[in-house]
Amino acid sequence: MSKTINEQTIINRHSVRTYQTTPITTYHQQELLNFIDHLENPWNIKIKITFINDLKDTDKIGTYGMIKDPAFFITALANDQPYAQEAIGYTLEHIVLFAESLGISSCWLGATYTKDHVQKILNIKKYEIMPVIIAMGYAKEKIALKDRIIKKVISSYDRLPFEQLFFENDPKTPLPLEKCGQYQKCLNMVRLAPSAFNIQPWRIIKANDAFHFYIYSAKELKVSSLKHVDLGIALAHFVITANILNLSGYLEIKADQAYVTYDHYHYIISWQIK
Ligand SMILES: Cc1cc2nc3c(=O)[nH]c(=O)nc-3n(C[C@H](O)[C@H](O)[C@H](O)COP(=O)(O)O)c2cc1C
Repeated sequence: MSKTINEQTIINRHSVRTYQTTPITTYHQQELLNFIDHLENPWNIKIKITFINDLKDTDKIGTYGMIKDPAFFITALANDQPYAQEAIGYTLEHIVLFAESLGISSCWLGATYTKDHVQKILNIKKYEIMPVIIAMGYAKEKIALKDRIIKKVISSYDRLPFEQLFFENDPKTPLPLEKCGQYQKCLNMVRLAPSAFNIQPWRIIKANDAFHFYIYSAKELKVSSLKHVDLGIALAHFVITANILNLSGYLEIKADQAYVTYDHYHYIISWQIK
């Protein structure tokens, strides 16, 4: 029977960096492939998913000692175009959560792998991007000491408080969650989304019956690509939860919202409540 993502899947997911040496079962591989076949993203951007199974390459993929014994890596390629990074984040997080529902753990890698080597394996063209890869496998039962240290260093278990992430009408007024009805759950699940260095560089402003998604980038003028990926991941958590709860709404890039400028906020997309 095919598995599906539910709230508990989102709550259970956390980055795993040390895996069992057991290969992924053929059944689980098939389930993953079937799931990947049916994936779509809000921008209709073509994403090419590839598995790297030849783990002779693991050392060269060089996770700088961070990742031990993954069963495989998953990569996502897209042509370099607006929203490609968000679409990659959105797509890969669906795969991460579906894998989690099967009992397969994962870790996103945006920094600690040798990009050049993976680009060579996949023969990436100049016009394509591949901002991240994902390690996957069955988690080693006991969390390795190294994993615990990494998690502590990047405060993996922490998330910013709600009042610093979700706002009403403008970025100064915290959103009263109790007024959000069922959408409160969507926001709870967004808050649990993984992000590079665990900085949660996204903000949501609710206004006019819509949830507007922004990348928040306090220092840089040019937003780094991983923040775009992070936004796609957060959006996936929102949409998946809205679907679980049968909430009716749709995603839309609102031209009027793009012209509302707040310092450090970069508008990406909105969920309009129906
Ligand atoms: C886009 C992205 C890139 C990441 N890159 C790395 C990485 O290079 N190395 C690493 O060890 N973890 C990486 N992570 C994992 C994050 O550190 C982790 O998701 C975050 O600390 C939250 O912890 P959690 O996933 O256990 O909830 C990345 C996560 C994301 C979403």
